[in-house]
Amino acid sequence: MRGLKDRVAIITGGLGDLGYAAGKRLAEEGCLVALLDIKDDPERAAAIDCRSWIVDLLDETTIEATCLDVANTLGPASILVNSAARFILKGIDASPDDWDEMTRVNIRGASLMAKHVVPQMERCGNGSIINFSSVSGFVGQPRFSTYTATKFAIRGLTRGWATDLAKANIRVNSLCPGYVYTSAFINSCKDLGLDEDEENEKASAMHLLGRQGRPEEIASTVAFLASDESSFMTGSDLIVDGGYLAR
Ligand SMILES: NC(=O)c1ccc[n+]([C@@H]2O[C@H](COP(=O)([O-])OP(=O)(O)OC[C@H]3O[C@@H](n4cnc5c(N)ncnc54)[C@H](O)[C@@H]3O)[C@@H](O)[C@H]2O)c1
Repeated sequence: MRGLKDRVAIITGGLGDLGYAAGKRLAEEGCLVALLDIKDDPERAAAIDCRSWIVDLLDETTIEATCLDVANTLGPASILVNSAARFILKGIDASPDDWDEMTRVNIRGASLMAKHVVPQMERCGNGSIINFSSVSGFVGQPRFSTYTATKFAIRGLTRGWATDLAKANIRVNSLCPGYVYTSAFINSCKDLGLDEDEENEKASAMHLLGRQGRPEEIASTVAFLASDESSFMTGSDLIVDGGYLAR
């Protein structure tokens, strides 16, 4: 895709399923990619021509130091993909700790990343921020309120930042996948005590295309939003959901 070669991309949740797939695709497009995650697996990152940094998004000091280290190592970043998330799935039974964990990673973490990467984008003279929302950022789903609230919030952050950052030539968009067959899906089945195969059948039936998405189908839309192919998009939601929301 146009305008990706030699750009520096930072991906949070970079060792998670969708962050990793996005890193692979951006590296294939010629980006220099930093995968940031609370987990550590430099060999897995190297296997897709990326570098990895350990960072806990709860800790702003580490976020700031890591962003500076990425810039010193790879150059200033002009792409930020906010993919990291926690998946505590609760309704009105959520505890104060559940809310703190969800909002501190999914909302505050994404925001602190933008705070420390935007100055690098300003040095580059351009930037693209891609915030992972979800179909859960549009509709209610059973026992999902804690997660849903953060995914609605992400769409709000996207519009706010797009407004603030347009003058710096920085575009900000939300990416809203339907269900993707990933460890997040498998773990949520476990957490809710549900049978994975049965849930896959049910989840597949919710999409017009009759299946869950694949990580590489989401990664290609990350590359699109990062690239010059989407140069007139900002403040938008890109829905990549196999028709989940069309019904
Ligand atoms: N998987 C899906 O079906 C699906 C659907 C719609 C939207 N999404 C969104 O896509 C994004 C990626 O989802 P995924 O399926 O790759 O999830 P995942 O669980 O595989 O990846 C999330 C990553 O975030 C990291 N992380 C969590 N807390 C962190 C912290 N405090 N500091 C740093 N890293 C931390 C985890 O270690 C993990 O590697 C999420 O924002 C999710 O809401 C996923």
